[in-house]
Amino acid sequence: MSVHFDVVRLRVNGDERAAGVPSHYTLLETLRYGLGLTGSKQGCDKGDCGACTVLLDGEPVLSCITPVHEAEGREVTTVEGLGRPDTPHPLQSAFDRFGAGQCGFCTPGILCSSAALLARDPDPGLDQVRDALSGNLCRCTGYTKIYDAVLHAARVQRGGGES
Ligand code: FES
Ligand code: FES
Repeated sequence: MSVHFDVVRLRVNGDERAAGVPSHYTLLETLRYGLGLTGSKQGCDKGDCGACTVLLDGEPVLSCITPVHEAEGREVTTVEGLGRPDTPHPLQSAFDRFGAGQCGFCTPGILCSSAALLARDPDPGLDQVRDALSGNLCRCTGYTKIYDAVLHAARVQRGGGES
């Protein structure tokens, strides 16, 4: 069976990128295998776990079930684009401070979902954090440290706490 390839052009983390990928590729496959952005994780690959969550025009999407062509002409943000090692996002600093990641497999997706929450609601309560992360499964942490880290990052972003 022959595979048809397309050149897709994406704006990822502020950069214009192009990749030749099989035309059936999802956004996740294109990010990981076409562009080498392996921060977004391939977990269940069927929309159940949230490990592949990225932002599309600022909204969280499950990139494993998003055809790559749906992302063309839109702004894609992956965990690599949230912050840099020398300038981490407040969420990344808070996850480090609170020990909110263990194996870390779920963390990129949770960071992206959390970043979208804080962008639309700078002062969320615990219920809002739980709701925003309800599609992101973590097998390790029990969630408490994750919720604490997100609430702390929100305080930092509002100027009310140390990162
Ligand atoms: S890898 Fe996309 S939801 Fe699990
Ligand atoms: S830290 Fe291991 S799955 Fe969440």
